[in-house]
Amino acid sequence: MSGLDDVIAAETRLSEVDGLNGRLVICGHNLDALAGQKSFEAMLTLLLPDLLSTSEKAVRAELAQARLQAFRAVARLDRDLVSLSVTEGLRALMARLPDGEDKSVAMLQVAAPAVFVPALIRAKAGQEPVPPDAGRGHAADMLAMLTGDQPSEERINALDTYLVTVSDHGLNASTFTARVVASTRAGYASAVLAALGALKGPLHGGAPGPVLDMLDAVATPDNATAWLAGEISCGERLMGFGHRIYRARDPRADALKAALNRLGAAGGMDAGRLALAEAVEREALAALRAAKPDRVLETNVEFFTALLLEALGFPRDAFTGVFAAGRVGGWIAHAREQIETGRLIRPQSRYVGPKAA
Ligand code: CMC
Repeated sequence: MSGLDDVIAAETRLSEVDGLNGRLVICGHNLDALAGQKSFEAMLTLLLPDLLSTSEKAVRAELAQARLQAFRAVARLDRDLVSLSVTEGLRALMARLPDGEDKSVAMLQVAAPAVFVPALIRAKAGQEPVPPDAGRGHAADMLAMLTGDQPSEERINALDTYLVTVSDHGLNASTFTARVVASTRAGYASAVLAALGALKGPLHGGAPGPVLDMLDAVATPDNATAWLAGEISCGERLMGFGHRIYRARDPRADALKAALNRLGAAGGMDAGRLALAEAVEREALAALRAAKPDRVLETNVEFFTALLLEALGFPRDAFTGVFAAGRVGGWIAHAREQIETGRLIRPQSRYVGPKAA
């Protein structure tokens, strides 16, 4: 009851999370037919078919124009904003964008995180922002805005795989938040801003930074067993493991692990880091099985997200912002579905406080 487990709060055509079988279907496609196969723009044509053209090329051009528009907000980065973490800076910048239920508002929301996150990372390092290039795809441009260089095909494919993999996932906490706000008819910008706040928490999209903290603390594979046992005996949760819905392995973890293997050393994946992560994953799963035999606690999306985004050069305080750059497609699609098919979301609470005198 306290976490609304098993409550069906919306009907959706967007995605199905099959927790028992560890399967994710987005817009009628299995995740393995999307991740590594389609670009983020192609994913948007599936998520927003009645808003966008069905042509990936046309969406690519529209999204590029929206990136150019978002970049104008980057000129107003002030010192207070830059002193925040990248994800909190993203939240502040997103709050400055116009609201409404028009297509132009939706496109700007979808484009903006990919522009703001690299600009904030660079500003925190004392570097000038790199403007978008409308000739590039969304993932390629996000990487180019981060480094100032043309990214390799391996790295573009890795980021596209990530953005597509996390683009939608049923009625997770941030998507539910987006639908609640959209149901009040506040507008897409308000829905995305509220969703971003929900995403930031470590029990949802804030886990990958702490996953790297865990790898740093373990330091070497032979330390993993003792370190993880110590955490579990203190009642700590292991970041990157467990899920509310999955009672099998999170299929997104496998999609991202495959992306890491494709990225390889040539794309920036450190083989020693991957070996450490694999040892930690193995030992963590064994330790969780021993400590919680009645509960299936498997690797979730955040474990390999951490390694992939680190290999792509994103700092850990930006990981939730990069997650938002992918999930924003789902947020807008759900907000739109809610506006078109739903009503004001207004559940009830049961009063258990003191009786009035
Ligand atoms: N490490 C250790 N114990 C755990 C973990 C974990 N990662 N996850 C759950 N448990 C235990 C928990 O302590 C509880 O034990 P007990 O019944 O003895 O008190 C039991 O499993 C059930 O936990 P719960 O909190 O009722 O389960 P939930 O469905 O609310 O938890 C979760 C889901 C993701 C919040 C949780 O697994 C967790 O905290 N994981 C670590 C954080 C993390 O990886 N977050 C990213 C989630 S995936 C991204 C997304 O899709 O949003």
